[in-house]
Amino acid sequence: MSNLINQPFTLPCGVTLPNRLCKAAMTEGVADDYLHATARHATLYKRWSDGGAGLLLTGNVQIDRRVLERPGNVAIDPAPEHGDAEGMAQLKAWAAAGTANGNQLWMQISHAGRQSPRYVTSEPMAPSPVQLKLLGNYGAPRALTEAEIFDFIGRFARVARIAKDAGFTGVQIHSAHGYLLSSFLSPITNQRKDQWGGSLENRARFLIEAIRATRKAVGADFPIAVKLNSDDFRKGGFSHEDCLVVVKMLNAETVDLLEISGGTYEQPKLLGHTGSADTAVSEAPQRESTKQREAYFLNYARAIRKIATMPLMVTGGFRSVEVMEEALQEGVCDVIGLGRPLCSHPDTPNDLLSGRITRAVNFEHQLKLADSGLFSPTSSVLPLKLLNVLGGQAWYYQQIFRLADGKPADTKMGILKAFSAYYWDEITTARRVKKAAKR
Ligand SMILES: Cc1cc2nc3c(=O)[nH]c(=O)nc-3n(C[C@H](O)[C@H](O)[C@H](O)COP(=O)(O)O)c2cc1C
Repeated sequence: MSNLINQPFTLPCGVTLPNRLCKAAMTEGVADDYLHATARHATLYKRWSDGGAGLLLTGNVQIDRRVLERPGNVAIDPAPEHGDAEGMAQLKAWAAAGTANGNQLWMQISHAGRQSPRYVTSEPMAPSPVQLKLLGNYGAPRALTEAEIFDFIGRFARVARIAKDAGFTGVQIHSAHGYLLSSFLSPITNQRKDQWGGSLENRARFLIEAIRATRKAVGADFPIAVKLNSDDFRKGGFSHEDCLVVVKMLNAETVDLLEISGGTYEQPKLLGHTGSADTAVSEAPQRESTKQREAYFLNYARAIRKIATMPLMVTGGFRSVEVMEEALQEGVCDVIGLGRPLCSHPDTPNDLLSGRITRAVNFEHQLKLADSGLFSPTSSVLPLKLLNVLGGQAWYYQQIFRLADGKPADTKMGILKAFSAYYWDEITTARRVKKAAKR
């Protein structure tokens, strides 16, 4: 059996990925106070480009400076008083560094919607005023007006065009994980009565229009990807059945790569965790349980594959070459997304492709703020469980900072140290960004 992970793959737009491994989108948090990219982005992406993945996806770049996923996000939302408002020079440096090895580098474009923390904004935005109740960290959102929805569709397209002009070789529209586009898809968060809510066709209208506008802005030969949840895993939310219908709608658009993930902040299945038991949906049984533990969304992708006419990528939990190769050979997907292993071991793709290793490292299970039954990712006490998920994330964020500073990862770093450093950085960055916006 020939090895598929090493094989190139040509997308419908004509662009070829040099191999089947993709560094999945991971928020970097290293923008400057004006939300422009910095030299740290260039250093980080040069490191990842050297690591050998055929495709690098950036962390979420925001279309709205007011509503960020994190205060260190890059936002391409010019405030005219800031002179070089797009930060074009920095974007160009980032794109050049991130494509140094002939790999693809695609910008993930997003709006954080209601999942923007209080220390960023007291007024998040959403399809409907449905608040995210999580550790008291998210304000009550206001519903977008129709004029704002049209404006945001234009912003997705405009940011994509800027990405192309800066030298990024593709874009991804983020419609997963509960951020704005994803929240429009869910009947829990989208209770609108106009043409943007109600039926699934209406709930998907924002995503479809954003794709169409983006295609118009970048032309036929530029890759456009979409990241979509296989399921929100939230009772009454965007379901797997809904996902299959949306995939049919996407078939009629010009999508070059559909990335499958799952979950939201309420049910962080994207990272292999569950949230509140009250709102969680039970999952479809998997064919092989060990595979499910490793690759969370493979079974969902199998059903999507039967319907989807565009290439597929699956992200979440992949660690062994064996499972990656099987997914490719079976034709479940064409590209494998890898996230966390590349924070601590940026050479993982090269190591897997060359056969130097057969398994990517997996720190997930040892990253806990405390190791008691109460205070663990499986705890029944929700705030403690979520703090543990956040603690794990904080550890990966700190490793990304180190790579962005040109340092090696520090795999001995303690989880408490990572968590406190993360929280301090978030708060102080948020303050600086707010101060800069007033200048
Ligand atoms: C530190 C970190 C940051 C992330 N940021 C983003 C992001 O900006 N956009 C996104 O779509 N997913 C984001 N994710 C989710 C990853 O893209 C991916 O779906 C998830 O990590 C599961 O893949 P893995 O098991 O290989 O890590 C992030 C994950 C991590 C660990």
